[in-house]
Amino acid sequence: MQTITVTRATALKTKPADESKLGFGRIFTDHMFVMDYTPDLGWHDPRVIPYQDFAMDPASVVLHYGQAIFEGTKCYRRADGGLQLFRPDANMARMSRSAQRMGMPVLDEELALEGLKELLRLEADWVPHQEGTSLYIRPTMISTDVQLGVHASKTYRFYIICSPVGSYYKNGLEPVRIYVEDQYVRAVRGGTGFTKCAGNYAASILAGEIAEKKGYSQVLWLDGVEQKYVEEVGSMNMMFAYGNKIVTPALNGSILPGITRDSILTLARQLGYETEEKRIAIADVFADGKAGKLTEAFGTGTAAVISPVGELMMDDEKLILQDGKIGPVAQKLYDTLTGIQYGRLPDENNWIVRL
Ligand code: COI
Repeated sequence: MQTITVTRATALKTKPADESKLGFGRIFTDHMFVMDYTPDLGWHDPRVIPYQDFAMDPASVVLHYGQAIFEGTKCYRRADGGLQLFRPDANMARMSRSAQRMGMPVLDEELALEGLKELLRLEADWVPHQEGTSLYIRPTMISTDVQLGVHASKTYRFYIICSPVGSYYKNGLEPVRIYVEDQYVRAVRGGTGFTKCAGNYAASILAGEIAEKKGYSQVLWLDGVEQKYVEEVGSMNMMFAYGNKIVTPALNGSILPGITRDSILTLARQLGYETEEKRIAIADVFADGKAGKLTEAFGTGTAAVISPVGELMMDDEKLILQDGKIGPVAQKLYDTLTGIQYGRLPDENNWIVRL
């Protein structure tokens, strides 16, 4: 393992006084982890340095052709003050899979994890204390070659930044209203939908803005071919509860293999729910919801945790679920997942990394 050098910031930032107003991703900590890649040296020069700007040549490949991938994971504060991570190895492994699809070098996952731990040793005081808050961690990889030919870059930078956060949606666990997008598509099979590449999110921004103007928090994407089948909500995977059965779109290459999705499916089975991963027609969601067979819908994601969906809107047709309140399945899964993440419940799946 290479030695990670540490340069401390000479002046530290003032930490947010009111943890109930953190929001999501607006405040950044004092330090960052950085390492660089060249074909001859591989990943090298791992370092924790003061949080700072990067100087970029305007012709850098990432700025033109978008070779950029990222991850999202969190550091949680236990009631006894100790800190812990949730499945950070799964994030690093997914970043390597994203990298492969984007023609980028796979990550040195072990070194990246060590870098994250070293960074968190310096940033421990930034992990907030209040219920429902955490330190959001954003590992990122960008291409750094300077050239305008459409070719893979030869050089790359990997970095990790951290941000103390509250809930992703403004109103926490309150159900969100979601607009079913039937004009634009997010991804198609054979494309990059299963990766966490910046372009997937860039492609989603216009539809998100239009939905927001109509009073919806996010859009629900349908498949890119027939626009009939449920894919995901950009920042979350979708799950539907039929009483004790939880149904979610199967991983088909165009949706993100969410780590929270996988954790929730595992926990749901352990809690005695039946689970099924399959192709889900949006018409069936509306018909089953109106017939009272579909009892709950909720999203799962690192930033969003579990977010109940109180309303789906498609073609001027509205589906209201659970009277706009959180349902018992989403609540049970939320309590179980966050119980493990914050150390209130035992970690029977070996997901927690204590710091
Ligand atoms: C996450 O849940 O960590 C995400 O990356 C989703 C979003 C904030 C882009």
